[in-house]
This record gives sequence, C-alpha cells and structure tokens, in this order.
Amino acid sequence: MDYREFSKTGVRVSVIGMGTYYDPAWIVLSRLGIRRGYRRRLEALRVGLEGGINFVDTAEIYGSEPLVGEAIRGFNRDELFIATKVWPSHLRYDDVIKAARRSAARLGAKYIDLYQIHFPNRRVPISETMRAMEYLADNGVIRFIGVSNFSLDQIIEAQGALKKYEIVSVQLPYNLIDRKIESDIIPYTRKNRLALIAYYPLGHGRLIREFPKEALELVRKRHGYRTPAQIALNWLISKYDNVFPIPRASNPEHVKEDLGAVGWRLDEDEIRIIEGFFH
Ligand SMILES: NC(=O)c1ccc[n+]([C@@H]2O[C@H](COP(=O)([O-])OP(=O)(O)OC[C@H]3O[C@@H](n4cnc5c(N)ncnc54)[C@H](OP(=O)(O)O)[C@@H]3O)[C@@H](O)[C@H]2O)c1
Repeated sequence: MDYREFSKTGVRVSVIGMGTYYDPAWIVLSRLGIRRGYRRRLEALRVGLEGGINFVDTAEIYGSEPLVGEAIRGFNRDELFIATKVWPSHLRYDDVIKAARRSAARLGAKYIDLYQIHFPNRRVPISETMRAMEYLADNGVIRFIGVSNFSLDQIIEAQGALKKYEIVSVQLPYNLIDRKIESDIIPYTRKNRLALIAYYPLGHGRLIREFPKEALELVRKRHGYRTPAQIALNWLISKYDNVFPIPRASNPEHVKEDLGAVGWRLDEDEIRIIEGFFH
C-alpha cells in the first residue's frame, strides 16, 4: 500500500480508503437490527485493512458505523484513520456534539479522526455548527474537521467560521466520468493543501460496466493487464497527489482487486489519453 499525507495533518493515510455506504435497504434494515450481508461486508473491510488500507469512511446515516467498529477491532487504532459524518438535521450546536458522541460509541472508538458535515443545511448558520466542531476538537472527540457536498463558496464560508482549526478535507463525487470539480474545487484544495476525498470513484459501478477497451489496451502496454476498477482508481491517485478515492466494496474479491490499483502509476500522457476515451 502507498500512503500520502492527509492535508496538513501530518497523518499518513493510504491512497485509497474504503467507503461503507451500501444501499437504502441496508440502512432501513440495519435500523431494525437486521444485518443482511453483514459477514461478507465485514470480511471485505478486513481484507482491505489487512492489505494496508488504514482509511475507512462512514456516516451516521449509513448504518455501517457498528460494522466499521467491528472490522477495526484487533487493528492498531492509532494507525487507522476513521472518518464519519454528521447528517444535516443534526447541525445545531448541541446536536452536533451529541451526534459525534453517538458515532464514536457506535464505532467503539475513543475518538473520530475526521468528522465531516455530510451536507450543508441553509437553516443552520455554519458558524453555529463550526463552534460545535471546535468544541469536539478541543475535547478530543474528533481530530480533524471536513465537509462534504459543499460548493466552493460554502467551503470558503465554512473555513471563515472556524476560529482555531482548519478544514482539512472536502468529500465530493469525482471519477473519470464526472470531473465537474476540476474547474474550481480541485484547484482550491491544491492551493490550500486540503485533501479531496473522491466518492463514487467507480461511478457507482458504471465505470466497471462501461470501461473503454482502448483504455485497457493502452494501460496493458506499459503496466500489464489492469482491470477497469484498478485503472479508474489509479487515474484518481496519479492525477493529483491530494486525492483519496473511497471505493465501496461489499465483496471481498472486489477489495482484493481494488488493492491492485496501487503500486504503479499512470504517467501524464496516459492520463490525458485515457481521459480522451471518456469524451
Ligand atoms: N459524501 C456523500 O454524500 C457520499 C455519497 C455517496 C457515497 N459516498 C461514499 O463513497 C463511497 C463510494 O461510493 P459508491 O459506493 O456509491 O460508489 P463506487 O465506489 O463508485 O462504486 C461501488 C460499486 O462498485 C462495485 N465495485 C467495487 N470494486 C469493484 C471491482 N473491483 N470490480 C467490480 N465492481 C466493483 C461495488 O460492488 P460490491 O459492493 O458488490 O463489491 C459497488 O457496486 C460510499 O461507500 C460512501 O462511503 C459519500
């Protein structure tokens, strides 16, 4: 596994993480205590952790915090980077604090490495939410603050609302078929040294099904046979050094394959040519 510094935190995080949003049915059933496909998902996360992935992303809404908590048991907590998110209905001061404590408890963790605002909520002033975030950081419940699904203006406003800490990451959809953020948010994160957590790195699975044959052929010439998932993930980590894709895999075989996205690197020409196949 390769690691890179996560923003200005000084923390070395694996270049690929693991996402744990499954599907709406999983969320509903997990609330009812029904754990459909639990063993397989647990095994998938453990395959990733054993393969050197130290970054797992979850959210209070996903219903997967207890699963992540069980998966990380037995691994050295200090070497892991566990990220979760607060849902937009919990962005009032007291609600943020309660939500973070509940998430930490579900994760079985003393602290959360990265606490992210899942979506903005126009009805709650960002200054109120950020005051709570700073309280959590001051009290060791969380280590770092991130945002997700914020526009560039909202990111700047959120940073302006923080008095002592900096936002370390932004989580947004980013992949070979959705490159909207390259025009504004990627340049901002690079200039300000924020990490960019790429969700839907496999286009929610679409990239696997519709990967151009020409791209497979091109990569094979210099890197040997690589699968669509491996190329799609490698493109994300080779193009910019502040990007961390978080593919989700419930299938342990998929995680094994995704681990093969690391340890080699597309060069600038290959990156450009591959992008051309997606136009
Ligand atoms: N911040 C947000 O608002 C937000 C929104 C959406 C998602 N996310 C985060 O981003 C993560 C990833 O998003 P996503 O799960 O929707 O999309 P994704 O990672 O782009 O795609 C996941 C799909 O790809 C499949 N897959 C993974 N590796 C594969 C491989 N090697 N070969 C074939 N298929 C493979 C998975 O199958 P199996 O599951 O069957 O293995 C799953 O169907 C989520 O889990 C979540 O943590 C965040």
